[in-house]
Amino acid sequence: MPVVAVVNRKGGSGKSTFAAHVAAWCARQRLAVMLGDVDRQQSSRGWLRRRDPALPGIAPWVVDQRNVLRVPTGITHVVLDTPGGLHGFELARIVMFADAIVLPVCPSMFDRESAAACLGELKTLPRVAKGQCRIATVGMRVDGRTHGAEVLRAWAREHEVEMVGMLRETQLYVRALERGSTLFDVAPSQVAVDLAQWEPILQWLKPVLLPPPPAEPPRREGILPPVRRAPVLGGRPLHPGQGVLA
Ligand SMILES: Nc1ncnc2c1ncn2[C@@H]1O[C@H](COP(=O)(O)OP(=O)(O)O)[C@@H](O)[C@H]1O
Ligand SMILES: [Mg+2]
Repeated sequence: MPVVAVVNRKGGSGKSTFAAHVAAWCARQRLAVMLGDVDRQQSSRGWLRRRDPALPGIAPWVVDQRNVLRVPTGITHVVLDTPGGLHGFELARIVMFADAIVLPVCPSMFDRESAAACLGELKTLPRVAKGQCRIATVGMRVDGRTHGAEVLRAWAREHEVEMVGMLRETQLYVRALERGSTLFDVAPSQVAVDLAQWEPILQWLKPVLLPPPPAEPPRREGILPPVRRAPVLGGRPLHPGQGVLA
C-alpha cells in the first residue's frame, strides 16, 4: 500500500496544506485514501471534519482500542501529515512505513536551515539510504516577485535533493483549507496557474501512488491465495491524544 508522508521540522512550512492536497488528489482519482494525522494539533483531522461530504471522500485516521493506528479494510492509499519538530525515533518510525517523503520548504533562511537539518537526518535512515523510501522537496509559498524560487533551487542542489516543484503564495490555499476543500476541489479554470504548478509534483508522486500492478505468480491448483488482512501501522500503542505513532 503506497504511503506518502509529509515531513519537515519547521512548523508553518505547509505540511498540512500539502498533505491535504495529495489526499484530495488521490480521492479525485477514486483511490480509497486515508489522511493520517500524526500531528498533535490534529490540523488535518480538523480540516477533514469541515470537508463537504459531497466532495470525493477521504478517510480520517483510525485508532483502535489498543491505540494502534489501523488502516481500515478497503483503504488502498495513505497520506501522513506530521508535526513540526519530528526527529529521532518518531521520524524513523514514519520512515519505516513510508514509500515517499515530501519536504515542503519555504524560501526563508530559517526554513532552509531547518529543512537541511531534517534532510540530513532523513539521509542517515537505512530505508532512505537504500532508496526504499524516496525523498523530494517542494518549494512552498514561493513569491514570484522575489528570488525565492532561485534560492530554493540552489538550496536543493547544495543538499543533493530533488526539488520537484514550487507552489506560489496565494490566499487560494488558505481559503480552500478553511472550507475543508483543496484547489483540486474547485473549478480547474479558477486555479489553472496553481494546478499547472502541481503537475511536476504529481508526476513525481504518480509512480509511488499508482505503481504498476505486480506480475501475477503462476497459479498452482489446490493452493488457496493468502488471506489479505487490514494493515496496521505500528504494533505498539499510540499515546492517546498525542498523535504519535507508538
Ligand atoms: N501556498 C500557500 N500560499 C499561502 N498560504 C499558504 C500556502 N501554503 C500554506 N499556507 C498557509 O500557511 C500556514 C501554514 O501552513 P500549514 O500547512 O498549516 O503548515 P504546517 O502544517 O507545516 O504547520 C497556513 O495558514 C496555510 O493556510
Ligand atoms: Mg500542520
